[in-house]
Amino acid sequence: MASFKFGTIFIATLAWTLLLVSNGQIHVDEGKHPPVGGWKKISNLTDPSIIAIAEFAVEEAAKVNTHTSSLTFKRIRSGKYQQVGGINYRLLIEAQRAEEEKPKLYAAFVFVGLDKSKKLIYFRHVKNE
Ligand SMILES: *[C@@H]1O[C@H](CO)[C@@H](O)[C@H](O)[C@H]1NC(C)=O
Repeated sequence: MASFKFGTIFIATLAWTLLLVSNGQIHVDEGKHPPVGGWKKISNLTDPSIIAIAEFAVEEAAKVNTHTSSLTFKRIRSGKYQQVGGINYRLLIEAQRAEEEKPKLYAAFVFVGLDKSKKLIYFRHVKNE
């Protein structure tokens, strides 16, 4: 008896929901579906696919600044990513020029498309914290 009641309520609720949806009275919250937005921490900074993104950023930046000596990627200090159809990556990269004693810190923003193509959005020197 209890299960019959539950079933009836369930079907009634479902029918009501479908009715509301078909009337266009329920609007999907576009901010939540699909989940786009939140920046998440990259936990494994030695993951080869993440390293490849950082190296790509350093190489692309070198193409723009051909007048300076070449920059060598050292390591990723921290990183975040955001799902946006493709994936946005914000990385703090340590890189060093031959004449420098120590690596410097750079902030890079790379977009990786669904087709895996990479695009450097920005790459700039930031102060070491
Ligand atoms: C990070 O990724 C590297 C390369 O895939 C792997 O060898 C290492 O075990 C990973 N570390 C952690 C903490 O998952």
